Amino acid sequence: MKGIILAGGKGTRLYPMTKVVSKQLLPIYDKPLIYYPLSVLLLAGIKEVLIISSPDAIDKYHELLGDGARLGVRFEYKVQDTPRGLADAFILGEEFIGNDSVCLILGDNVFYGQDLTRAMKRAMTNDGATIFGYPVKDARAFGVVEFDKDMNVVSIEEKPENPKSNYAVPGLYFYDNDVVEIAKNVKPSKRGEIEITAVNNEYLRRGKLKVQLFGRGMAWLDTGTPEGMLKASEYVEAVQSRQGFYVSCIEEIAWRRGFITTEQLIKLGEELKMTEYGEYLISLAKGE
Ligand code: TTP
Repeated sequence: MKGIILAGGKGTRLYPMTKVVSKQLLPIYDKPLIYYPLSVLLLAGIKEVLIISSPDAIDKYHELLGDGARLGVRFEYKVQDTPRGLADAFILGEEFIGNDSVCLILGDNVFYGQDLTRAMKRAMTNDGATIFGYPVKDARAFGVVEFDKDMNVVSIEEKPENPKSNYAVPGLYFYDNDVVEIAKNVKPSKRGEIEITAVNNEYLRRGKLKVQLFGRGMAWLDTGTPEGMLKASEYVEAVQSRQGFYVSCIEEIAWRRGFITTEQLIKLGEELKMTEYGEYLISLAKGE
């Protein structure tokens, strides 16, 4: 399975912060935002990742993450000229995806919780499409899942005024290879975007959409607003300082997944040894 991180967008809700800096390069506590979605793909065991961003930002992502070899994986980069919508990822990514299945994660979504890896492994073995449902207090700003009384999915509605449930669809989606063809046939919505919800509804129509529900023990944090960024930073700081384990440390995950050796982890730690982050990598390698 391949992975795609959609890290473009205008980030207008974060202006002036994002006037000249791409949102996913901004920090959430101690690391760039893009580390968080990237860590999710690595946790799932995905070793080939396409990073999509805007023309002015793509080189920065390349500079930050390189070709992936340092983490024992492979990164590719692709420019999205304008933010045409989330489903554009599969059109831009057609060649990269090839004949494989694909997981898409939005560059500004932070996930953390014990169930995450298990939920993703299950999604990876399903046919068709798997998306998730996450309980939120106010679902109006999201794609929302409607269920019948037996909890079968009836519809997905994009930003409904009157949500039919409080289950929002987070920015993490698993698809078989049909997604490329489906995305190409999606017509732009009223707001002019090719919507991921349209892709999901096509899978639903074909009887091939599964929705897995996350429980309240999972953290799904949105970082699209200044308040969201601050809350996510506070969450990461609280977990890290309490447990001593880092949230979404890509080097640690690459090492735990066996993509890099302990010697390679030490080397990565030494490059950053003026920081707690670097010390953390070295302490992991030494088994402290
Ligand atoms: P949004 O938060 O919907 O859009 P945005 O990042 O441009 O922010 P704003 O609403 O403040 O203007 O995007 C969700 C994520 O998907 C975010 O990480 C940016 C990314 N994205 C793209 O890369 N390309 C796109 O075409 C769209 C719509 C979003």
